[in-house]
Amino acid sequence: MRIALVPFAAIVSAALACGGPAEAPAPQQQEPAAAPRPASPPPTDEPGPVDGGTPAPPAPDPAPPPPAARPPPAPLAATPPMGWNDWAHYQCWISEQIILDNAAALVSSSLSKKGYDTVTVDDCWMAGSRDANGDLVADSAKFPHGMAWLGAQLHAMGLKFGIYEDAGATTCGGYPGSGQPDGGAPDHFAQDARLFASWGVDYLKLDGCFVWIPPGKSKEQAYRDAYSAQSAALAASGRTIVFSESTPAYFQHDSNWDSVLGWVGRYGQLWRLGEDIQIYDAWNPSASRWASVLNNYGYTRDKGRFTHPGNWNDPDFIIGGDPGISAEEARSQFSLWAMMSAPLILSSDLTNATQATAAMLGNSDVIAIDQDALGEPAAVTVGSAVDVLIKRLDGGDRAVAFFNHGSGAAAVSISADQLGFDACSDCTYHVKNLWDGASPAQISAMVPSHGTALFRVSQTH
Ligand code: GLA
Repeated sequence: MRIALVPFAAIVSAALACGGPAEAPAPQQQEPAAAPRPASPPPTDEPGPVDGGTPAPPAPDPAPPPPAARPPPAPLAATPPMGWNDWAHYQCWISEQIILDNAAALVSSSLSKKGYDTVTVDDCWMAGSRDANGDLVADSAKFPHGMAWLGAQLHAMGLKFGIYEDAGATTCGGYPGSGQPDGGAPDHFAQDARLFASWGVDYLKLDGCFVWIPPGKSKEQAYRDAYSAQSAALAASGRTIVFSESTPAYFQHDSNWDSVLGWVGRYGQLWRLGEDIQIYDAWNPSASRWASVLNNYGYTRDKGRFTHPGNWNDPDFIIGGDPGISAEEARSQFSLWAMMSAPLILSSDLTNATQATAAMLGNSDVIAIDQDALGEPAAVTVGSAVDVLIKRLDGGDRAVAFFNHGSGAAAVSISADQLGFDACSDCTYHVKNLWDGASPAQISAMVPSHGTALFRVSQTH
């Protein structure tokens, strides 16, 4: 199948003549990346100041010129967080050795140098109950040296320490949660945040199982109260802790999903949007996990308006290198996550990762698309077999992806004129294929089924 987005002759003439007004194809599912977004205003659902009034009398003397505006400070998580989490491969079968072995693999593979710097221990790290002081306690069989020790080991490896808790009475796995127990006894948000800070925690994933919804309170308000309480507790903890919120995932199939997405960015830096990526099944390791990659891409691609520096949609883990996903599919997941400016949180057995997997996950050109300072998500034009994603990058380059979700190979091409560059005469374009490193004359590719071609295009005046 050939999907001719523009006639081939038009591509050639665009590449050579490169004049004329630049126009991006109209995306069907998402607003185009048209204007730079402000550095980091948190989404707000509260009314702004009202312009109310009587005009001020003229000032007697001309006011001195205002001091030069200082750039706003960079937000926490100015680019999408990167790291590794045990859940999708190990679930509850974790131990301090497994965590440290994977952390060591991150370092020895040089993936940590590429930006994967946060190692997060997911659910099931705790003992079944709090201690006499009400503090959380590590499971002493899985983590005999305790969590502060583990954090110190990770820090000594140049990594950051992430941990999992839950906004409800218990975690999804049934361990003590930070939220109010059913019936409304006091929560533990402040106490747990202080404990995490004392352990050197740098990143908290707060899940949303079993959140207590008091009579008379809406589900949305109950979640909002819990997540804002945890956010305030982290701010008061004395340590800078990136906050990953799972709230929106608990509203994915409710009519107020977007309403939740409208406030969640006030409280944290990233959030799980929806369903989990399919976990590795040790009893059926060859079962394909591709459908869940497609599903998570599908529910994320049109939510780009909620993503910007300091606030990121999280479509869940990168599983490339683990069973259940082919090398072609793994490149696609990685490309699509980068185009959506998604967090890159690996969740696979890195101790068995091949060199090819490490090279794929460490592709600096693709990571640069994800970590681009503008933090814009791609505009997506959805096709019956091929989606075309266009992402505006800092400095004016464009990233282009052709994602073939159909069942046969597809020839796809696009003209530089369609990428939304500023109009100019006498421009030239440089095209780099980010998966094979080639510099083709045109932006075109034969894309296999489940594959993604990924390009970076620069306009030179
Ligand atoms: C939920 C989350 C997963 C994982 C498990 C742990 O399913 O979405 O990412 O944290 O809970 O129980």
